[in-house]
Amino acid sequence: MKWETFDSYDALSARAAELFLNAIHADSRVVFGLPTGRTPIGMYDRVVDICSREYHCFTAVETFNLDEYVGISCDHPGSYCSFMREHLFEHVDLDRRRAHIPDGKAADLDAECARYEREIRRAGGLGVTFLGLGRNGHIGFNEPGTPFGSRTRVVSLTASTRTANAALFANGDVPHDAITMGIGTILESRSIVLLVSGTGKEEAVARLRGGEVSEEFPASALHLHGDVQVLVS
Ligand code: GLP
Repeated sequence: MKWETFDSYDALSARAAELFLNAIHADSRVVFGLPTGRTPIGMYDRVVDICSREYHCFTAVETFNLDEYVGISCDHPGSYCSFMREHLFEHVDLDRRRAHIPDGKAADLDAECARYEREIRRAGGLGVTFLGLGRNGHIGFNEPGTPFGSRTRVVSLTASTRTANAALFANGDVPHDAITMGIGTILESRSIVLLVSGTGKEEAVARLRGGEVSEEFPASALHLHGDVQVLVS
């Protein structure tokens, strides 16, 4: 695990955008795993800014989002589908048929999870996956206690995660369930970049630096992967 520490959120975002664009320059057909949340917004802003000046940045790129809430449609302002449209998809030349997000409104959610795994395999697997970090150490929506071999599935969100993500839901009415890639799915990505910023994450960062590997601390699964960069501000 390689660590880089930054003085500011802006500096972290600039480095993350650099890694993102380097991945496209190294392989124009790169398959990204993509996060939502407050942390990656600065990275997406920079990528959009640069790609609006570069011809055909995303033409052959394929993306798979880590997670989505269950029970709300893409049009809901709190959906990760809305988030991705606002922060990335509407501003770059990414073919929407290659921009995948689990469908939290699918009639058969288990079938949707299996389909998502198949789509990732069909694309050749995840190449570079960016992750954010929850205060309790969650990655995607894999909460403490998640088996490291887990695959894409429906999960219940903890009260603390629902509170942390309440901003875009009227009356704090955050969905109780989500679809998330599993930790096993994430670990199959060829490389991983973990972005850590925001208040209340000091304890999680210290725990990750400590090196303990435990299913009670989901991000610690990343110690089992050979190519992880952690950017912290
Ligand atoms: C949510 C997302 C995670 C994200 C986390 C941290 O729970 N499902 O993928 O990493 O929030 O969010 P933030 O970056 O806003 O702190």
